[in-house]
Amino acid sequence: MIEFSEDEEIQTYLDEWVPFRIKELKEPVPREQEEARPARLVRLRPAGFPLRDIQKVYPINVTNDRLFEVYAREQWMGATIRKGDFLFDSRAMPDFAFEVVKVLPPGEVSITEETVVSLEKAEAQRPLWMGTSYSFADIIGHQEVKDKCALVIRYLKDPESFGEWAPRNILFYGPPGTGKTMTAKALAKETDSTLFLIRATDLIGEFVGDGAKRIHDLYQSALDTSPAIIFIDELDAVGLDRAFQSLRGDVSEVVNSLLSELDGIKENKGVVTIAATNNVGILDQALRSRFEEEMEFKLPDKKERLELLRHYIGKLPLKVSAGLGKYVAATEGFSGRDIKDKLLKTALHRALLDDAGEITEEHLDAALKQMPKGTQPPKEMFS
Ligand SMILES: Nc1ncnc2c1ncn2[C@@H]1O[C@H](COP(=O)(O)OP(=O)(O)OP(=O)(O)O)[C@@H](O)[C@H]1O
Ligand SMILES: [Mg+2]
Repeated sequence: MIEFSEDEEIQTYLDEWVPFRIKELKEPVPREQEEARPARLVRLRPAGFPLRDIQKVYPINVTNDRLFEVYAREQWMGATIRKGDFLFDSRAMPDFAFEVVKVLPPGEVSITEETVVSLEKAEAQRPLWMGTSYSFADIIGHQEVKDKCALVIRYLKDPESFGEWAPRNILFYGPPGTGKTMTAKALAKETDSTLFLIRATDLIGEFVGDGAKRIHDLYQSALDTSPAIIFIDELDAVGLDRAFQSLRGDVSEVVNSLLSELDGIKENKGVVTIAATNNVGILDQALRSRFEEEMEFKLPDKKERLELLRHYIGKLPLKVSAGLGKYVAATEGFSGRDIKDKLLKTALHRALLDDAGEITEEHLDAALKQMPKGTQPPKEMFS
């Protein structure tokens, strides 16, 4: 029995819960909801993990629908569900959630031996790439990198065929904006691999042991969804040479776990680690030596800058009416990103502000002049 008092909690009980209970008693729950009907069909959509937060996507690679159906039915047999509920995997990918997007008959149903379980085949559940997805055709220059990548592509497409000679750990190095991340995305796209894009600093945990666990989980997820590429950006942020490590505090836990994972992945599992850095020289030697292949991303030469200009001008929403020769010269030392963002994008914005129907030399010159001091091309470029 409830004692009346001014206590807030009890008041809430009286105000909200009691009337609700009375209503519920007056209007009994319909019978069909008490006893779920056997489901004829259950359609699921992969929904990801409830807690894991590392920047990554969790595509599900189901190659055999029949097999998935048997697997799903067996593990969720007897479960009572309705549209909008979640089912959690407890076997291959513990805690991975599937959202129930459709059930037949509609309403509350239970999964039986007769239930057809299907996985939604949406574009969204295919491997995703962060941002725009690139293909190799979009990468200008870097012929040597592309040649070397051909082997990685062959491996990811058919991991079994390489045995112990599989390429596993690759280091991309070179100045910012030269296409390292882009190349990793293109590789993933070309080989239909899952791409785990992470920054090395994301691997550092708050407490001792966190980092090691994150790295282990990362490699486990990659194995579960192979073929997969783990792209670790800004490796130098954790993999500094010991002489520099005091600058960044103790990251040896991360480096050591990374080393053991790099060593431990089995050759024929279709997982490739690509790490990227702008500063190859300051990397810890033990870490660097784990990468069997290093690929250099150089700044574009004259011919490549022309190609970059042409390529991105072709994608601009406004026409460019200016000779390109001058800008090929003026962009010496620019990366692909600089050409695209600092020159072309800024010029486009100026043209738009001017309400000009096209981008002229004036807009391009203004964009160059706007660049931070020290990165500007020499004055004599502008007559
Ligand atoms: N070789 C290239 N061909 C075509 N586009 C390029 C090239 N290099 C850079 N770009 C353009 O610049 C953008 C930035 O490149 P990306 O992010 O791959 O550089 P990055 O080498 O990873 O740089 P960072 O070291 O700063 O991470 C790309 O998305 C692309 O639009
Ligand atoms: Mg990058």
